Amino acid sequence: MPIWYGGDYNPEQWPRAVWDEDASLMRTAGVNLATVGVFSWSRLEPRDGEFDFEWLDVVLEKLHAAGVRADLATATASPPPWLTLKHPEILPVTASGVRLSTGSRQQYCPSSPLYRRYATRLVTALAERYGSHPALQMWHVNNEYGCHVSRCYCDVSAEAFRGWLRDKYGTVEGLNHAWGTAFWSQHYSSFDEVFPPRDAPTFKNPAQLLDFDRFGSHELLECFRAEAAVLRQVTPDIPLTTNFMGFFKPANYWEWAKELDFVSDDSYPDPADETAYLHSAMTRDLMRSLAGDKPWVLMEQATSAVNWRPQNAAKRPGQMRAWSYQAIAREARGIMYFQWRQSIAGAEQFHSGMLPHSGTDTRVWREVVEFGAELTALSGVLPSTVAAPPVEAAIVLDWESWWALEQPARPTRISYQGQLSAWYRAFTQAGLRVRFVHPGADLSGFRVVVAPTLFLATEASLDNLAGYARDGGTLIVTFQTGIVDENLRVRSGGYLGPLQRTLGLWIEEFTPLAGHPAALAGTVTSSSVTWSEVVRPAGATVESEFTDGPAAGGPAITSNGTAWYVAADLAADGKAALVETILGRLGLDLPRPAPGVERITSQADTYVINHNPLPYVVELDGTDLLTGKPARGLELPQYGVAIVRA
Ligand code: GLA
Repeated sequence: MPIWYGGDYNPEQWPRAVWDEDASLMRTAGVNLATVGVFSWSRLEPRDGEFDFEWLDVVLEKLHAAGVRADLATATASPPPWLTLKHPEILPVTASGVRLSTGSRQQYCPSSPLYRRYATRLVTALAERYGSHPALQMWHVNNEYGCHVSRCYCDVSAEAFRGWLRDKYGTVEGLNHAWGTAFWSQHYSSFDEVFPPRDAPTFKNPAQLLDFDRFGSHELLECFRAEAAVLRQVTPDIPLTTNFMGFFKPANYWEWAKELDFVSDDSYPDPADETAYLHSAMTRDLMRSLAGDKPWVLMEQATSAVNWRPQNAAKRPGQMRAWSYQAIAREARGIMYFQWRQSIAGAEQFHSGMLPHSGTDTRVWREVVEFGAELTALSGVLPSTVAAPPVEAAIVLDWESWWALEQPARPTRISYQGQLSAWYRAFTQAGLRVRFVHPGADLSGFRVVVAPTLFLATEASLDNLAGYARDGGTLIVTFQTGIVDENLRVRSGGYLGPLQRTLGLWIEEFTPLAGHPAALAGTVTSSSVTWSEVVRPAGATVESEFTDGPAAGGPAITSNGTAWYVAADLAADGKAALVETILGRLGLDLPRPAPGVERITSQADTYVINHNPLPYVVELDGTDLLTGKPARGLELPQYGVAIVRA
């Protein structure tokens, strides 16, 4: 299997004369896959039920002749103007009741049966026409589901939400109980009285908000399923995907990943951010976790600047390549861009492309061509199936808990992603290879598992964590875990549910350190923590204490056998110290990566990527697959990469 290389290709933005040049330049660049037609609905179906495939026939023929395969989009991400003019009820409505207009993209209500009907009609026509086209490699279903409109609050959505609630609760009394509607006179006598959580005078019902998030992710997934069902019926042998957006809160990707033939992701870290490579590494590890040890595809990235930040930094020479290898090292077998040819008109005219406005005598184009040649050379060399290496550490990630934790009216404002990143950094800097896992996942293979701020947790999830520790696994549970159940009902009597026994403690009171950080003393110290609470040990050993603040002198970190509790929002030094302490007790002596240098082992190969301004000298034996030279002693400049095969 080749390593896929290419990008979104939007030939409809260009006169036909340009298409031949596209095909020929794609060959020059080593492009072997083009994502075609993502935003082509209005050109494929210019009028209701009238299809125009002639231009796409020509495009696909040209690609085929050039040896470029097609990642053919279903083109449903931006409904054409005639459709929303004819059926304005397809247009989505915000929580404040504003109906969004045409003239942009993604202007559809995910629950609209009309939208789905028109979308699947187009998909059927595309699948029937191109299902056996020799260029067709894969289907690209819709595009970035939920990117702009992840929730719709219109009347159609309201009715769909009611139906979803009826299915879930059976009776309105079931809903009343789950939502705690005795509070603030919210008791419902019938499902007809229930609405999406539209703008309201003040705090909305938390369980209603949570169910609306569940419903919202589900409705987007239903849109995907409707298209996928058509494709699987008409073209059962063609794999399909839809492009994820990394740590994207509105869509529960654990649910989604199961439905794709392979995972793909869009990735736009900020080139100006010195630490962006860490976020990019973490996202790529998330994709590897979601992909379930199948290869995945980096479906979109920018060759250089984007156009949607207040300041759009250009990538530095080599940065795009280095960030791409972060993906390949983590089992991506496709490196794609948005987009092939930089647009001259439209909202993304200043977003970089593989072929820049200024043509081929440019840095970006040269990098694109050189990297394409490199990937072509690697295609036969890198394994095409993935046998994931053993991974030592797991970070528990749960979308439902994310939605619940970041609601308003919580004990404090916590960024869930911030917590995940901080633990990811602490683990990877200690040399641990990390996987993200669902709280219900089999944890038995991991040496250490952290559940950071798992605010909402089912009894089954807490039992799963408890069982892992009971069987000898090293478990780190942090503050604000197991506070509420799946209906957002508080676990009274000290929170944590079954984990109280595992951890040997209960929690008396939260004492957040609003604006007055405290420190920790004891086995593990931490410079500045922003959360404290009153922990009541019931068998646990106190490892560290708060030195100041309302919980001063009380436990901040405890252990109970192999189960650790962290009652503080540890600063980076505190997390690092805790991880070191734990590795010491486990007797795990791992090679530490140098700061700013990644060392990722994948099957037979170790990828070394230097993100530092200063050069780094490789200290591994073997041959560098990229230069053919002995690896040891190779000097990697900033953004330099070596793939060392022993
Ligand atoms: C997303 C979209 C693309 C494009 C890029 C720009 O990833 O899928 O169509 O808008 O963003 O960065």
